Amino acid sequence: MRLILLGPPGSGKGTQSARLAGRYGVPQIGTGDMLRAAVDAGTGLGRQAKAYIDAGELVPDELVVEIVRQRMAEPDAAAGWLLDGFPRTAEQARRLDEVLEQSAKEIDRAVLIEVPDDEIVRRLGGRRVCAACGAVFHLDWKRPAVQGVCDLCGGRLRQRSDDAEETVRERLRVYREQTAPLARHYEKLSVLVAVDGRGSVNQVFDRIDGVL
Ligand code: AP5
Repeated sequence: MRLILLGPPGSGKGTQSARLAGRYGVPQIGTGDMLRAAVDAGTGLGRQAKAYIDAGELVPDELVVEIVRQRMAEPDAAAGWLLDGFPRTAEQARRLDEVLEQSAKEIDRAVLIEVPDDEIVRRLGGRRVCAACGAVFHLDWKRPAVQGVCDLCGGRLRQRSDDAEETVRERLRVYREQTAPLARHYEKLSVLVAVDGRGSVNQVFDRIDGVL
């Protein structure tokens, strides 16, 4: 199974792709997660990516395409994968098409998760992430037992650098300008399905699983 999850920031791509990866037995390849790991590790890639991420802008195509290409070449991705947050530009989509063509493979589905802007700002504004284990909490609907402390490992909870409201608005602008037009590309390939991303995580999962 080769899947792409498309959708604005905060639409639930990461949440749903973790579940779908388990359901379909393929690795989740999340470019945001890989880039943040590189930032935390202080690698050359991380140092280059940090300023773009903090500003809500896209990291240059050549950096992102390369990490995805390397990850897709690992043995666990031979039988399929789930791309979360990639492609995000026309150039990234073109490069992905190229890689697939070279290996005579095709995308099975591109799932577009649709969520209105006000819901996105609410979701991302309240998100807190454990600095140690990556567990995700929310100030309104998934509060930790002790404020600022992870229920799972006792790590410190922090707000993602790009979840400040102003940066979220910029991420939405960038999404509309550069990523939203990709839906048309996958529509032309007859693999696009749009899913309502409102409602509970389980409801959205069932909708996606239903169309797959
Ligand atoms: P990335 O990490 O990919 O950020 P994003 O797409 O903006 O995604 P988010 O993680 O904010 O949202 P999501 O849709 O995954 O939703 P999630 O499940 O987390 O990228 C970050 C940055 O890295 C980019 O801005 C860019 O700089 C760079 N980058 C990454 N990929 C790149 C690329 N290909 N090219 C160039 N640059 C790239 O959920 C969000 C919140 O909502 C969570 O709190 C969650 O618990 C909650 N939630 C989820 N589902 C529900 C629900 N149904 N109901 C209520 N709450 C929900």
